Amino acid sequence: MKRLENKWALVTGSSRGIGQQIAWGLAERGCNVIVHGREARNLEATLAKLKAYDVQAHITTGELSTSSGISQIIKQAMDAPGPVDILYNNAAIMSKNESIFTVAQAEWDRVFQINVWAVMALCQAFAPGMRARGYGRIINLTSGIADQPNLAVYSVSKAAVDKYSRDLAAEFKGENVLVNFLDPGWLQTDLGGKNAMYPVEDVLPGALVPALLEDNGPTGRFFAAQDFRYLER
Ligand SMILES: NC(=O)c1ccc[n+]([C@@H]2O[C@H](COP(=O)([O-])OP(=O)(O)OC[C@H]3O[C@@H](n4cnc5c(N)ncnc54)[C@H](OP(=O)(O)O)[C@@H]3O)[C@@H](O)[C@H]2O)c1
Repeated sequence: MKRLENKWALVTGSSRGIGQQIAWGLAERGCNVIVHGREARNLEATLAKLKAYDVQAHITTGELSTSSGISQIIKQAMDAPGPVDILYNNAAIMSKNESIFTVAQAEWDRVFQINVWAVMALCQAFAPGMRARGYGRIINLTSGIADQPNLAVYSVSKAAVDKYSRDLAAEFKGENVLVNFLDPGWLQTDLGGKNAMYPVEDVLPGALVPALLEDNGPTGRFFAAQDFRYLER
C-alpha cells in the first residue's frame, strides 16, 4: 500500500474504537495524525501507540454536540504543524433503541447534531484549504445498518451523510479533493457492541483505502472496509 509521508490527517473520535484503529493505520503509513477525543485523558492510549511510528501527533479535544465544541476542535486542528490533508469524520453516536412512532424530535436533533451537522461543519472548515492546495481526502463514516426501525434516527443520520458526501464530491469534481463514505463493517466497539461480527482491528486495512486513493481517483463513492480484507496490512 502507498504511504502518506508528510500528510496530516484529522481523525475525529480517535480516542477508542474504529477511529483509534484508523489513526494507528494512517501512522503505520507515515501519516502525521491530529487525534481527537472529548478530553485529553481519553487520548492517552492512542498517543502512546503513535509514538512507535515515525510521525508527528497533534491533540484536539472537544464536544461535537455543541457549536462551541466544534469551533474549538477546528481551531486546535488549524494550530497543528501541518494542514488537514485528510479528514476522517469518524465520531458518531448511536440513537436510542425505541419505536419509530414515539421517538421525539429532541432525539433526532441530538443525533443529527453529532452525526450530520458536525460532519458538515468540519468539511466546511477544512475543504476550502484542500481546494487551495489541490489535494484532499475526506472520508465520512457511514453504516450498513438496514431494516432496524427502532434505530431509524441513527440510520437516517447516516443516509444524510451519504447524500451530503455525494454532493460535496460533486462540488470538487476534477479538483483532486476526493470525498467518499465508508462503512467499516459491524465491529466490536462501544457503539457496535460485543456481539458484533468482527474485532475492531478488522477495520484495517480497508478503512485506509479511501485515504490512499491516487490523485483524481474515485469520488462520491461508497466504500466497505470489509471488501478489502484480502489486502495486506
Ligand atoms: N462499530 C460498528 O459496528 C459500526 C458500524 C457501522 C458504522 N460505524 C461508525 O463508525 C464510527 C466509529 O464508531 P465506533 O464504533 O468506533 O464508536 P465508539 O467506539 O463509540 O467511539 C466513538 C468515538 O467518538 C467520540 N465521540 C462520541 N461522542 C462524542 C461527542 N459528543 N463529541 C465528540 N466526540 C465524541 C468518542 O470520543 P470519547 O472517547 O472522548 O468519548 C470516541 O472516540 C461511527 O461513525 C459509527 O457510526 C460503526
